[in-house]
Amino acid sequence: MVNQAHYEYYEEAPFFEDRRVMREPPPGTVPRERVLGPPELRTGMVDGKYVEAIPVPLSKPMLEVGRKRFEVFCAPCHGVGGDGVSVVAHNMELRKPPSLVAAPVLDFPVGRIYQAIAQGYGLMPTYSQELGVEDRWSVVAYVRALQLQANGVAVDTLPEPVRARMQKELR
Ligand code: HEC
Repeated sequence: MVNQAHYEYYEEAPFFEDRRVMREPPPGTVPRERVLGPPELRTGMVDGKYVEAIPVPLSKPMLEVGRKRFEVFCAPCHGVGGDGVSVVAHNMELRKPPSLVAAPVLDFPVGRIYQAIAQGYGLMPTYSQELGVEDRWSVVAYVRALQLQANGVAVDTLPEPVRARMQKELR
């Protein structure tokens, strides 16, 4: 294979009209790793500000995906409950993974949590290879759910059917 007719970089090739061996990608070609779509979805930011609300529809199956991904990719460091309690955290000396369910992360806009996943943060690596855009938002939604679980929810913010069920079951 090494000893067969071939061109080297920058050589001329009569086969092509412009005689260039090094071809340009066809117009409109995009790199495989470039994620397309609106910026709030891809980056968690709009006009230089973090997105405040999750920009995809929430659903129970989506939260279930978020839980699964979280438990695989985040829990080893941040703990299954997101509270920063894990064996890895215990052994990380330089900078421990923070609790995701207490201040300051509790007060972060969702876009900042998304960005930590997409780009990494400080000593935390990016998970953009393991988690696509949809998965990242599912994980963000699940982190919000963990935060509610850890800190409680005001009863009057619950939707009516859920409130009614809660009042019935707690009676
Ligand atoms: C290998 C361990 C590890 C894993 C796995 C990990 N993190 Fe982190 N995370 C860290 C550490 C360490 C920090 C603090 C980094 C620093 O301050 O330098 C951090 C910081 C964060 C922050 C705070 C970022 C900020 O802006 O202050 C968020 C949010 C976060 N992680 C979410 C996640 C989510 C969601 C996942 C799963 C996709 C995840 N992390 C997976 C170790 C990890």
